[in-house]
Amino acid sequence: MKTFKQNYLIHILLLILASSILFISTTSACNAIDKEALLEFKSKIEYDSSGQLKTWDPKTDCCTSWNNVKCDNKTGRVVKLSPFRPSNPMDLDISIFVNGTLSPFLGNLTSLQELDLAHFQQYYLDSPGQLSQLTYLSIAQNILTGSIPTSLANLHKLQTFNPSYNRLSGTIPSSLFQSMKSLKNLYLQQNKFTGLIPSSIGKLVSLESLELNNNSFSGEIPSSIVKLVSLDTLYLHDNSFSGEIPTTIGTLKKLNYINLSSNKFTGKIPNSLGQLSKLYVLNLENNKLSGSIPANVLNLKSLVNIDVSMNQLSGKIPPHKSDFPASSFMGNPGLCDAPLPPCKSS
Ligand SMILES: *[C@@H]1O[C@H](CO)[C@@H](O)[C@H](O)[C@H]1NC(C)=O
Ligand SMILES: *[C@@H]1O[C@H](CO)[C@@H](O)[C@H](O)[C@H]1NC(C)=O
Ligand SMILES: *[C@@H]1O[C@H](CO)[C@@H](O)[C@H](O)[C@H]1NC(C)=O
Ligand SMILES: *[C@@H]1O[C@H](CO)[C@@H](O)[C@H](O)[C@H]1NC(C)=O
Ligand SMILES: *[C@@H]1O[C@H](CO)[C@@H](O)[C@H](O)[C@H]1NC(C)=O
Repeated sequence: MKTFKQNYLIHILLLILASSILFISTTSACNAIDKEALLEFKSKIEYDSSGQLKTWDPKTDCCTSWNNVKCDNKTGRVVKLSPFRPSNPMDLDISIFVNGTLSPFLGNLTSLQELDLAHFQQYYLDSPGQLSQLTYLSIAQNILTGSIPTSLANLHKLQTFNPSYNRLSGTIPSSLFQSMKSLKNLYLQQNKFTGLIPSSIGKLVSLESLELNNNSFSGEIPSSIVKLVSLDTLYLHDNSFSGEIPTTIGTLKKLNYINLSSNKFTGKIPNSLGQLSKLYVLNLENNKLSGSIPANVLNLKSLVNIDVSMNQLSGKIPPHKSDFPASSFMGNPGLCDAPLPPCKSS
């Protein structure tokens, strides 16, 4: 009897052991290469206002015990590094959340899909091209200098690329857009980029937001922009763009927001803008546009905000139902009628 009971107990123990082995193998632990890469990354960080890196203990599993790290449960590979935000919300207005240099070991996280290093201080991604699984890359709000590395063109799966609010300069390599077929959001604003927008931008057929404002881009808007049929936001303001606004812009039916202010655009306001039935904001202020304001643009039902001030527009402001303020039209010496003073009868 006693032996039976002991056997029974051993069976139960074996069962527990077996199921715990099974449990370990289904929730597989952190991949060793990824763990090493994260520890190397941590070792180069000098200051972390979020305090999250304290949880990155070499003795624990990076997938289950480390803050800001997300793994694929099946493979144990790290797929996401969440942004390091200050633990004290009062610190949100400080510009630097984390500082240090960025370890090249980060390139070993080859399954990484999301990387948000906004508000880091002064670093550069040595070999971002290795992170070929990335769908999201933000390196915004740093003090990055230099130009965009051409190896970024290897990031075929990227949907969001955000290096905004830095001090990056130089031109945009044409090769960058050749392969980024999945890109939806391109945020290059508030840098020091110069030169033309490569016509290869037409390859970005999934692009929804194009924000290039506050740089020193010049030249004309490439005609290939007509291929960006998913575009809903076009921010090109505060640059040195010139030439005419392409009339084909009227075929980009998803456009909600257009801001082309403070550039050197010439010619007329295209009539075709009146075909954008979802247009919400149209800002063309402070350019060198001439001719009259197309009536169909001013009467777009969706339009809540228009600004064509500080141009060389002329003629009678077409009758319209919305009560746009006079400030939307001021600074055009030849323009008259409501909400500006009436036209002088000649
Ligand atoms: C991984 O497992 C955790 C805990 O069981 C679960 O919350 C999470 O959604 C899983 N993640 C994925 C990507 O399957
Ligand atoms: C990082 O930030 C801390 C705290 O603001 C500062 O004391 C330190 O000098 C900074 N290090 C570098 C390299 O900027
Ligand atoms: C990890 O990255 C470092 C630095 O780039 C490199 O020297 C090392 O060979 C990489 N390790 C693996 C396993 O790829
Ligand atoms: C443009 O960016 C610079 C710094 O990059 C900033 O000082 C300036 O205020 C910005 N201008 C606008 C109009 O946002
Ligand atoms: C358009 O750009 C101008 C100039 O930077 C800015 O003042 C304005 O707020 C922007 N308007 C919209 C609606 O984005």
